[in-house]
Amino acid sequence: MKILGVDTGAKQYPIYIDNSFSSLADAFEKAGLKGRKMCIVTDSNVAPLYAESVKDLLADVCADISLCVFTAGENSKNLDTISDFYKFFVENHLDRRSVLIALGGGVVGDMCGFGAATYMRGIPFVQIPTTLLSQVDSSVGGKTGVDFMGNKNMVGAFYQPELVYINTDTLNTLPYREVAAGLAESVKHGYIQDTEYLKFFMDNKESIKALDSEAISRVVYGSCKVKSYVVSKDEKESGLREILNFGHTFGHAVESLSGFDMLHGECVAVGMLAALYLSMKRGAVDPKDIDEAKALMEYFELPVNIEGFDTDRIYAQMFNDKKTKNGVINITALRKIGDAYTEKGCTEREIKDAIEFIIK
Ligand SMILES: NC(=O)c1ccc[n+]([C@@H]2O[C@H](COP(=O)([O-])OP(=O)(O)OC[C@H]3O[C@@H](n4cnc5c(N)ncnc54)[C@H](O)[C@@H]3O)[C@@H](O)[C@H]2O)c1
Ligand SMILES: [Zn+2]
Repeated sequence: MKILGVDTGAKQYPIYIDNSFSSLADAFEKAGLKGRKMCIVTDSNVAPLYAESVKDLLADVCADISLCVFTAGENSKNLDTISDFYKFFVENHLDRRSVLIALGGGVVGDMCGFGAATYMRGIPFVQIPTTLLSQVDSSVGGKTGVDFMGNKNMVGAFYQPELVYINTDTLNTLPYREVAAGLAESVKHGYIQDTEYLKFFMDNKESIKALDSEAISRVVYGSCKVKSYVVSKDEKESGLREILNFGHTFGHAVESLSGFDMLHGECVAVGMLAALYLSMKRGAVDPKDIDEAKALMEYFELPVNIEGFDTDRIYAQMFNDKKTKNGVINITALRKIGDAYTEKGCTEREIKDAIEFIIK
């Protein structure tokens, strides 16, 4: 087992990376949560797979654990479900010392976190992420929230967990398409900050794709290391945290225009190729780096281009991005591989050329 730490100044917490749940009870005890009333919040897919075993494993640290289950999927990520949570919490007499446990993917984590941030003005919560995307990305950093009126993550709060416990073994039940979407975000961490980690990806793609226990735990560790460093330096996205948006300005536009048919990670994969192309045109990366990136995405069965999209529409959609400020499209680009920054001075032509690069 490996342990990393997040320190936002206001809050410190550990990230445990393990290939089983065997140290879960210990982790709760170390965080001072023993004896508290608890509630596992999870979705309808994850509940039958892991809820009972997590409950059993925590029996020694908690005699009173309830289970709050909602219908799996992004469609549930709204205030109605949050309202159902509050009702459940009241009926089960959860108080300010009670602990919520987010057991599931990013939808569970974002919603349980928001429930924890707002119920009784904030109660503690723990993240037990079970998708690769949530293990390498959404469970770390404290962004919580729900979608509102068709807008993703429109209502939410920054709220940090007491601890994150990652059991990479849970990935064995995850459909491969979801695994690949998580791999796109992990590769991103290599491109923006860690060339050694990126090299590990290139050199070990077979064992990573096969979910070999050691390889996947190195991936989760490498990503959590980058993410925890970035969010520790910049909890509320006033600067450094923007580098995590690498591939996302292009990716979000594709995601919205696809009517959310493509998974977020798939859109980030093509978005990264566009951002790499733009960086290459500026002389920051080699053409061979793009070939390598493309080959890696293809190996992971991630899309490397998009069909049926129009350059002008994608460009227009990029102006609707939350991160577009004062009409300027901010693109996270690379100074070199492993070193990202926010570029505010891209021309329309440059951006459109990058979009054309990913359109089939
Ligand atoms: N908070 C953040 O910083 C942040 C960052 C990135 C994404 N997000 C959010 O995360 C969400 C996407 O997360 P996600 O990709 O994990 O989606 P998800 O939570 O919907 O999980 C994907 C699917 O896998 C199922 N599942 C989960 N774990 C499983 C397992 N171990 N075995 C089998 N099935 C399993 C789920 O029930 C679901 O059907 C989006 O809502 C996005 O906005 C948040
Ligand atoms: Zn993302």
